[in-house]
Amino acid sequence: MQENLKDRIQEQQEYVDKVNKINLGKNLKYIVLTMGCQLNENDSEKISGMIEEMGYTRTDKIEEADLIAFNTCCVRENAEDRLFGKLGEVKKYKEEKGTIIAIGGCMMQEKHMVEKLKKSYPFFDIVFGPHTLYKFPEDVYNTLTTRKRIEDILDIDGEIIEGLPIRRDDKIKASVAIMNGCNNFCTYCIVPYVRGRERSRKAEDIIKEIEGLAKQGYKEITLLGQNVNSYMRVEREKGEDVGQIDSFAKLLRKVNEIPGIERIRFISPHPKDFTDDVIEAIRDCDKVCKIIHLPLQSGSSKVLKDMNRKYTKEQYLQLVDKMKNKIPNVAFSTDIIVGFPGETEEDFEDTLDVVEKVCFEQVFMFIYSRRVGTPADKMENQVPEEIKHERFNRLKELVESQIELNNKKFVGTKQKVLVEGKSKTNENMLTGRTDTNKVVNFEGPDELIGKMVDLKIASEHMWYLKGEI
Ligand code: 5AD
Ligand code: SF4
Repeated sequence: MQENLKDRIQEQQEYVDKVNKINLGKNLKYIVLTMGCQLNENDSEKISGMIEEMGYTRTDKIEEADLIAFNTCCVRENAEDRLFGKLGEVKKYKEEKGTIIAIGGCMMQEKHMVEKLKKSYPFFDIVFGPHTLYKFPEDVYNTLTTRKRIEDILDIDGEIIEGLPIRRDDKIKASVAIMNGCNNFCTYCIVPYVRGRERSRKAEDIIKEIEGLAKQGYKEITLLGQNVNSYMRVEREKGEDVGQIDSFAKLLRKVNEIPGIERIRFISPHPKDFTDDVIEAIRDCDKVCKIIHLPLQSGSSKVLKDMNRKYTKEQYLQLVDKMKNKIPNVAFSTDIIVGFPGETEEDFEDTLDVVEKVCFEQVFMFIYSRRVGTPADKMENQVPEEIKHERFNRLKELVESQIELNNKKFVGTKQKVLVEGKSKTNENMLTGRTDTNKVVNFEGPDELIGKMVDLKIASEHMWYLKGEI
């Protein structure tokens, strides 16, 4: 199986060489437009890596591109709408100069969406899914030589593909996928249907990748997966030989030992799998940031049951308390969905109650979006749009008042900040982040970029803090 996989990746290298020959001397440009989560961004870095090997150079101007690759998302309807908007915009480039339009990502695993594209946007050249991403060079070669539309989508679960080229967007922070897919089937979520079952990468491959990143000067690593704290669980249950690092806690401890890496983050864990060994590893590992993203989704035990989340409001709060007791100065961020089918005013108040009790550093708030093929889409008691929006705004108000309170606590304290670069809004300022992911802007020399500095927090603003060396 592994050998077979190696052969297939080798075969792609041959397509890379062939496309390179066709493109030689043409000075072609590309752009990748990403619509989804950090896993999608990580996939986009791989798509960019493959495209650059084929002889294209990056442009930020969409009108300049000879190859436009979309990496789509289908978690919520607004991500889909953004794709359709952009496709409407690129049609003219296709007509004027034959730009290659490739559409990949999670949305392409949905048959009804591919049908919609064919009907309403028939000018695209390639569609490909997350499971066939590694074959992108072959797809580009086929479209260049046949000028036929290529549909390269696999319905079965993809394997873990190692060794793809990658063109990273950042020089200080890097994300590393440790697992893919999801076995949880939360009733609102489309991910298990489009990303397939859980599969973990071998620890040795992950460690090798991170050691390589450390050598290149990367300082911060985010470990990625739909359910990171069930790393290797499926493999363990199947009795596969997975080596010594067979759990997320062990992986964290191992990554913590890699010289050169200064910060480790991870997203997303599932509350139901947050075992004590993981909590202890977070406590013991000095490089693991003490902010934990712990998706709540809802504060109502009834809604959580309907969502198939497998924990209650009380269990979530107990877990938070346990972590607060075991990990000094721990902070939390979360994801919340408002307006899940059947959510009553009382249920929503339970969500507000949890938000008040935990006092999150950051809350990603979502209005429930119906996803075709998921159990929640078939539930009869859908919440009317106005009520969803009204609840969303109430939650937002509470969250913003908490952020303000939290920010005030920072003023006058000393914070370790990893300097990421120049501030986007003010060329004279540098910008970085605290351990708890707060943005800090400050004046300082460019040599500090990529370094960890101690800053005194001078003042607070809604979305950032101002610091002094
Ligand atoms: N509607 C709204 N939000 C959703 N999420 C996942 N599916 C949906 C949906 N159908 C949110 C969850 C998840 C985050 C990545 O996206 O909060 O944690
Ligand atoms: Fe979706 Fe739930 Fe899996 Fe997260 S854990 S990807 S919300 S099904």
